[in-house]
Amino acid sequence: MSNICSKELQKEIIKLKENKNAVILAHNYQISEIQEVADFIGDSLELAREATKTDADIIVFCGVDFMAETAAILNPDKKIIVPSIDARCPMAAQLPAELVRDVKTKNPDVPFVIYVNSYASAKAEADVCCTSANVVKVVERLDSDVVFLGPDANLAWFAECRTGKRVIPVPSNGFCYVHKAFKVEHVEEMRKKHPDAVIIVHPECDPEVQKKADYIGSTSQMLKLARESDYEKIIVGTEIGLIERMRREIPEKTFIPLYKAVCKEMKLNTLESLLIALKFESNVVKLPEEVAERARKAIKRMVDIL
Ligand code: 13P
Ligand code: SF4
Repeated sequence: MSNICSKELQKEIIKLKENKNAVILAHNYQISEIQEVADFIGDSLELAREATKTDADIIVFCGVDFMAETAAILNPDKKIIVPSIDARCPMAAQLPAELVRDVKTKNPDVPFVIYVNSYASAKAEADVCCTSANVVKVVERLDSDVVFLGPDANLAWFAECRTGKRVIPVPSNGFCYVHKAFKVEHVEEMRKKHPDAVIIVHPECDPEVQKKADYIGSTSQMLKLARESDYEKIIVGTEIGLIERMRREIPEKTFIPLYKAVCKEMKLNTLESLLIALKFESNVVKLPEEVAERARKAIKRMVDIL
């Protein structure tokens, strides 16, 4: 819920974005006040798709670095700006481009699937990109029974279970610290406390947590389930921003965090930093064209095959 000061800032942001023909895209983990002024809110896949559809001159991307980079790669002629340049997903740093290149050099016949939560330079070395929403389809469509996938080892495990293919994590232990914090004990405690509730989690959670959940999906797949299913009480195992969106948009249902998980990096974007970036058109995301061109192939392959 926004206070008076936030309301003033929101009004200024909306006026400015209209004057500048800008569009605001926000990830499901952004603070509610940012979600409220966004033209579109979504998961990584939806945001990548939306970024290709807009005819705005400026895209203000409220998320973390790899999401804005993906928008920049897909829109070389548009200005992409971010509220905070420090909003960087720590998981991306776990897969340097050199590691992808090394694995590819040693295994030229095995496709490398790169999770969108990665640097553009690493994507430039990989064969195809994926997100948590489409990883199963991407791995299924590849003409190989063995694939590499990184940087998230839990997502690799999820894809291996769902496809029956061998999905080798690179590195072997890449992880998201936010989703690592969900423990089996949280699931057991919540089951006891709320036997009438359904438990849904993100595929970045540990395998033991995924095994005990009723449903596993990307943030927007969880939102869709919350909206379209008959479940009245839902325990949600992902970052708190999504739960706030669910409560705002589906007030007739009950949403309980499996544990209150916060992504510090996502929360670096504020209304103030959004207004300043938009006003001065600062924090422009630009990539070397040579890197962008090669990364674009992996992202386009994902967008095209699905
Ligand atoms: P989604 O693509 O499911 O929204 O996930 C992005 C993310 O960063 C999860 O931690
Ligand atoms: Fe990265 Fe995890 Fe934050 Fe998602 S929740 S942006 S994977 S640190």
